Amino acid sequence: MPNLFEDRRSSSDFDPARPLPDGLLREIVRLAAFAPSANNLQPWRLIAVRTDEAKRRLHAVANRQPRILLAPVTLIVVADSEGFGAKNPSWDELVERAGGDRTRIERQIAVTASRYGVSPETRTKFAHKNSSLLAMSLMYAAKSLGVDSHPMDGFDVDGVVKEFALAPGEQPSMLIALGYHDDAKPLAPRRRRRTYDELVEDL
Ligand SMILES: Cc1cc2nc3c(=O)[nH]c(=O)nc-3n(C[C@H](O)[C@H](O)[C@H](O)COP(=O)(O)O)c2cc1C
Repeated sequence: MPNLFEDRRSSSDFDPARPLPDGLLREIVRLAAFAPSANNLQPWRLIAVRTDEAKRRLHAVANRQPRILLAPVTLIVVADSEGFGAKNPSWDELVERAGGDRTRIERQIAVTASRYGVSPETRTKFAHKNSSLLAMSLMYAAKSLGVDSHPMDGFDVDGVVKEFALAPGEQPSMLIALGYHDDAKPLAPRRRRRTYDELVEDL
């Protein structure tokens, strides 16, 4: 029986002749959006790079990684380092649940800000911890629907911020190329993973 965890691989050779239907991309994102996040704040958004023109712009600021041109879609996972703030609409849901009593939620917003908003380092950690869970969820959601993926960190952060007009506080977290592996091209052999005994300190 196929296993998502064992079967997901980073595909370097996407088949440029196989598009990713819009409905499938939407379903991958819908499933991945179930990823957990601190206070359910979901401090992220995605930019779907799909046109040749947008691919060329991303390719130029992402070490010219060829898979960006080959894959039908590359998602820019954008992390919001200010996403714990009062402006995040996720708080409104809690206000509603509290019967419209915003004062009760304001205390929670202040506590959250005191945890994540104290320094550039805590803001960046907040942004990247959360958005990395979305990134992983995107890859497993894709695999569950038969779609291959490739995560990439090899890009010029300032270049992506500028080229894709990210807002103040937004940081590009990861690129996830999505599509179908070209079966004519062999995958690199699977690299060894650490075992339970190497990974776990049993107390
Ligand atoms: C955060 C992160 C960044 C990565 N960045 C790149 C990258 O820029 N270029 C690349 O070729 N592979 C990149 N990879 C892919 C890894 O090399 C790959 O996941 C690893 O070798 C294990 O292979 P597998 O995904 O096929 O199991 C990245 C993976 C992760 C998780």
